[in-house]
Amino acid sequence: MISLIWAMDENWLIGKDNLLPWHYPKDLAYFKAKTKNQAVLMGDMTYDSLKSYYKQKPLPFGKIYVANLVERTYEDATLIKDIHAFLKDTKEDVMVIGGKTIYQLALPYANRLYITFVLGRHEGNVYFNRFDLSVFKLIEKTIEDGLIFAVYERISS
Ligand SMILES: NC(=O)c1ccc[n+]([C@@H]2O[C@H](COP(=O)([O-])OP(=O)(O)OC[C@H]3O[C@@H](n4cnc5c(N)ncnc54)[C@H](OP(=O)(O)O)[C@@H]3O)[C@@H](O)[C@H]2O)c1
Repeated sequence: MISLIWAMDENWLIGKDNLLPWHYPKDLAYFKAKTKNQAVLMGDMTYDSLKSYYKQKPLPFGKIYVANLVERTYEDATLIKDIHAFLKDTKEDVMVIGGKTIYQLALPYANRLYITFVLGRHEGNVYFNRFDLSVFKLIEKTIEDGLIFAVYERISS
């Protein structure tokens, strides 16, 4: 199963340069709980951003896959050059954790979406590419501290 997890505001904003545009401890806790010890796939830029956040500490995931078109060796991750082949063929449950480019490439393969809706409009410059959410059905929704944690599953055709 391929899942995407992200937080966005009412404008579908997800980033400010290479960082999150906001600081919501409840959303960080949710992200941590959902991704702990899970196989994750992320883009090279998101990897660097997480590495600078965790510094010397290990990233709290299971297997780590990093998508990059350029050759690079990661001390703790496997390089994925062909993201389409990877997502099509993998037998693992993989959580896709960003950023913008990787979400866009992975969306057609997604069975499940974990979206945190952040109320209001924030300052930033990276947006999730808009898509038709009606091909997914809402299976879970909780509201906490002004954040909406929603889980969607693809409607099988
Ligand atoms: N709100 C959230 O939940 C959330 C979560 C994560 C990230 N973000 C935000 O997202 C932003 C980062 O997004 P981004 O798009 O700049 O970076 P990204 O998705 O993390 O990384 C893009 C990387 O993917 C590689 N790539 C592109 N096409 C590929 C392909 N076909 N196969 C394999 N690799 C490929 C690129 O390689 P090349 O360099 O070789 O082109 C690039 O290094 C930041 O602002 C961050 O804060 C938000």
